[in-house]
Amino acid sequence: MRGPHVKTLFFFMIVLLFLGSLLTTLTLNDNHVEPQRPIPQVKFALPPGPYKGLIEKVKQRYAQTWKKQDDNWEKFIAQLSSQCHGSDKAIITQANTPVGSKLVYDGDKKKSIQVNAELFRTFIKEHPFPNKTWDTCSVVGNGGILTNSSCGESIDSAEFVIRCNLPPLKNGYEKHVGVKTDIVTANPSIFVEKYGSLMGRRRPFADSVQDYGNSVLLLPAFSYAYNTPISLRVFYTLEDFRSSARPVFFNPEYLKNLDAFWRSKGLKATRLTTGIMMTSLALEMCANVHLYGFWPFSNHLHDFRELTNHYYDDKKPKTRFHAMPSEFELLLQLHSQGVLRIHLGHCKPYKM
Ligand SMILES: *[C@@H]1O[C@H](CO)[C@@H](O)[C@H](O)[C@H]1NC(C)=O
Ligand SMILES: *[C@@H]1O[C@H](CO)[C@@H](O)[C@H](O)[C@H]1NC(C)=O
Repeated sequence: MRGPHVKTLFFFMIVLLFLGSLLTTLTLNDNHVEPQRPIPQVKFALPPGPYKGLIEKVKQRYAQTWKKQDDNWEKFIAQLSSQCHGSDKAIITQANTPVGSKLVYDGDKKKSIQVNAELFRTFIKEHPFPNKTWDTCSVVGNGGILTNSSCGESIDSAEFVIRCNLPPLKNGYEKHVGVKTDIVTANPSIFVEKYGSLMGRRRPFADSVQDYGNSVLLLPAFSYAYNTPISLRVFYTLEDFRSSARPVFFNPEYLKNLDAFWRSKGLKATRLTTGIMMTSLALEMCANVHLYGFWPFSNHLHDFRELTNHYYDDKKPKTRFHAMPSEFELLLQLHSQGVLRIHLGHCKPYKM
């Protein structure tokens, strides 16, 4: 069998693989504190036999020379920025959110909060990157596929590096994930789990943030009502310890628009992952977007070895479910269209 039949068959099998394996393996530790939702109990494991050949084909597809396609890129960015305005609306600033504004929680639209003088004071004065466009950006998902990948240098070679949920960058990880950080996100759950909700000693958190230098610490402070007090404690901790990290808050209206945008592209997730949020933001801010550590399957693309959930641990998600493979499929489409580039597997000594 050759030609179109083979292609059609493989395409069909690839779609089956991505859609049929709604797994609980998530690439990012993305557990916001929120009510329990049922998690589909489907575990993806790569059985021997035909699927192995199938992954081989996905691999071949990635091996094809990737080339940015400017027309596709321009079209996509035009749609994204006209619907989401990330470059000036993604982050709450004193300029775009005056005292008296009402912020509607994007994860719980029945709730809102009115901006008073005290809250206003915690907002950054101006957008940290006003009208800036970078040439290259790396967005680092935290997937186990980064383990022993030697991608650190390649990730750090971008002008701008975005990381998710305060990932560890030391103790041998440097080589594989790099250290450079311009934006790092933090979900409130990490403060609950690792830093006692910042109700007791706060120095361990203040010290740990030093690993990210003077990066912007992006918090979904207005996604759920219970995110707000803990995000404010993060803000006050960094202020009190004179940290060089700059805490900023996601604008819930941007997240709402982003959710609508991806839904219009066919995504049926309960909630977007931080990974796709940051990828979207990067697309509006950077001419060339490179994704690392985005691979939502529990086996490696190349040698099928089992992967841990994150490059730094194997903690499974507890409370929520993102449509991870479905998001990956959309990102894969953008990769194929030359809008962004997904890096999987080992990084060779390499220039972007
Ligand atoms: C950014 O660009 C917009 C529109 O092009 C302009 O209105 C705005 O003043 C610019 N902001 C800054 C800080 O330069
Ligand atoms: C990664 O590399 C280290 C050192 O070579 C090795 O000990 C470890 O088993 C490797 N981990 C995986 C998941 O391959």
